[in-house]
Amino acid sequence: MTTTTSTSPVLEARGVIMRFGGLTAVRDVDLTVNTGEIVGLIGPNGAGKTTFFNCLTGLYVPTEGKVSYKGKVLPPKPHLVTSAGIARTFQNIRLFANMTVLENVLVGRHTRTKEGLWSALLRGPGFRKAETASRERAMELLEFIGLAHKADHLSRNLPYGEQRKLEIARALASEPGLLLLDEPTAGMNPQETRATEELIFAIRDQGIAVLVIEHDIRFIMNLCDRVAVLVQGEKIVEGPAEVVQADERVIAAYLGTPFEGSPGAEELAEVEAAEATAGDDAESATSKEGTAQ
Ligand SMILES: Nc1ncnc2c1ncn2[C@@H]1O[C@H](COP(=O)(O)OP(=O)(O)OP(=O)(O)O)[C@@H](O)[C@H]1O
Ligand SMILES: [Mg+2]
Repeated sequence: MTTTTSTSPVLEARGVIMRFGGLTAVRDVDLTVNTGEIVGLIGPNGAGKTTFFNCLTGLYVPTEGKVSYKGKVLPPKPHLVTSAGIARTFQNIRLFANMTVLENVLVGRHTRTKEGLWSALLRGPGFRKAETASRERAMELLEFIGLAHKADHLSRNLPYGEQRKLEIARALASEPGLLLLDEPTAGMNPQETRATEELIFAIRDQGIAVLVIEHDIRFIMNLCDRVAVLVQGEKIVEGPAEVVQADERVIAAYLGTPFEGSPGAEELAEVEAAEATAGDDAESATSKEGTAQ
């Protein structure tokens, strides 16, 4: 797709392919995320969404294709991707369960402090000097996500929704320019989901572009400027939320019905209406319309 002059690409994935033996999990996917954007990535279970994230973040080395961040091709190594400016959360939460909430955020800062991870974990002398500034920033982030009051709690004792939020804070601690969120509201109640929506808007307003995977379509549609749809590893549609929502290929993918050569929604509605009329002549079929979500 074209990019406008007022925004510039933060992330550019080109021709990304990921094969596992005979299985092609990601098929030639292109995706761009521009500054100031929140982009959604949706698709049925097993569509390749997480695999694509893993290709973007160096967890997997794509079979083919390249990934650039702010115009520079990224080496497929997680720590280099993080220090370049991409942070992520995981579908299966990955926190240090026996560390406090604050310590988890501090670990997330290690790419931005000279001392590095081991010093942070071992608390060497270099670390103590940098610690005050780091703690301040970490507390700021906890304030931002609404967990400052639990800074000293062990992360394993947090309710699930708060663990997800803590993952976001830890990701933000690396001061990213792009945040990748893999199902940030999985397991959350509606209020927590709503709060997460606001949180992601606030993150975007701080100048961090966001790419988010989520199954909650309402959440995605409220949140995203643009949505890309993966089905069986292939990007089948990309566009503004309202356009994607109404696209019959997307509806078909979610309903699990084949879309090519199969009757469209209108034809199906006609058939249903005809059947209803045949079954009960007395009933008018005025309310029988093809519904598309
Ligand atoms: N390391 C791996 N080795 C082999 N196959 C894998 C590996 N990782 C993922 N796959 C396969 O790739 C496909 C895509 O999986 P992926 O987890 O990316 O889907 P997803 O879209 O994230 O699904 P969900 O919505 O359920 O999280 C699946 O068939 C999965 O089994
Ligand atoms: Mg996944």
